Amino acid sequence: MSMVLDRPQTLELAPYKSLENDELSQRIAAVRRELGPRLLILGHHYQQDEVISHSDLRGDSYQLSQMAAASSDCRFIAFCGVHFMAETADILANRPDKLAERDGVRVTVVLPDMAAGCSMADMAAIDQVEAAWEDLGEVIDTDDVTPVTYINSAASLKAFCGRHGGIVCTSSNARAVLEWAFQRTSRVLFFPDQHLGRNTALKMGITNDQMPVWNPYEHLGGNTEDDLRRSRVLLWQGHCSVHQMFRAEHVRRFRQLVPEINILVHPECMQEVNDLADVSGSTGKIIQTIDQAPSGSKWAIGTELHLVNRLKHEHPDKEIHFLSPVVCMCATMYRIDLAHLCWSLENLAAGHPVNVIRVDDETARFSLIALERMLQVK
Ligand code: 13P
Ligand code: SF4
Repeated sequence: MSMVLDRPQTLELAPYKSLENDELSQRIAAVRRELGPRLLILGHHYQQDEVISHSDLRGDSYQLSQMAAASSDCRFIAFCGVHFMAETADILANRPDKLAERDGVRVTVVLPDMAAGCSMADMAAIDQVEAAWEDLGEVIDTDDVTPVTYINSAASLKAFCGRHGGIVCTSSNARAVLEWAFQRTSRVLFFPDQHLGRNTALKMGITNDQMPVWNPYEHLGGNTEDDLRRSRVLLWQGHCSVHQMFRAEHVRRFRQLVPEINILVHPECMQEVNDLADVSGSTGKIIQTIDQAPSGSKWAIGTELHLVNRLKHEHPDKEIHFLSPVVCMCATMYRIDLAHLCWSLENLAAGHPVNVIRVDDETARFSLIALERMLQVK
């Protein structure tokens, strides 16, 4: 008999918190069996192992958006990541052509814990970006500026890009996206992560004096008119609180202690760290690099702790270290645990979805324009 008939009311979260992981796992598995291909559980690589073990598909931000865009059988997505990723999944899984294929039936996207946000995404609010655009227009021609938002941003910012000829990027396609932008305009406004913007543009030959940082709390972002006129990439003053913990001295320490060490970092790390690294790339590229590395090779990795620990476990033939001496983990992603996953899935199966992520139609329409531009960039 369907669980829809068994459970007429929304289930409370509290009792799930005292259950053992074994029981939670069995109940999650039962919902997965019941819903079959109608349920897709997506997991970001930074997610804790217990949660990842229940995901149908795992990936970095770009791969996860492709998966959501390609989903066809599923009617429910449980997104084990953070809020902006679930918003992106909602926009892509419910875009007009997909809705038409399903006779208007929406895919319900749930985020097991609504507190799973992203501190970087919170560093750029839509009213701040709109105010910056207006201020910029007093000094330079904004028709000659492409707004580029890192996917780590609220849907309203993606919609801003859609409205203004702009585009979304992830850490795996940032260079291709900037090249796309520079074919159209001579300047870019890049938000919210200054480090991804700077590290990518430096590799394209753009210099730091052409990349002023925009502080949303100061007039003209804290820049002179000359700074803005000279700019090629305007960098929003945002960062990832996890990746900013990796420092140049950590790289130097490993180079001294372990002579054959290779340094592998995420481009959200600051410039000094990226400059000293051997390889820099998205979480997908970090995994690929370690997968392809020869047995016995030595690596110090600067990205989120859960991913580095998983890589250590999966590659016992390689020497893998965490680059920082202190714990750097994405505390918001970590909020998604088995209790929240089980609670949200059982409510889904009972026909009472909780923590539904639903982007309003107008925002979704313009965000989709910017997301589709990104998915088309090769
Ligand atoms: P990826 O694009 O590598 O998945 O990174 C997402 C993220 O949030 C890194 O902090
Ligand atoms: Fe956001 Fe940083 Fe967490 Fe990635 S690791 S989701 S950028 S806070």
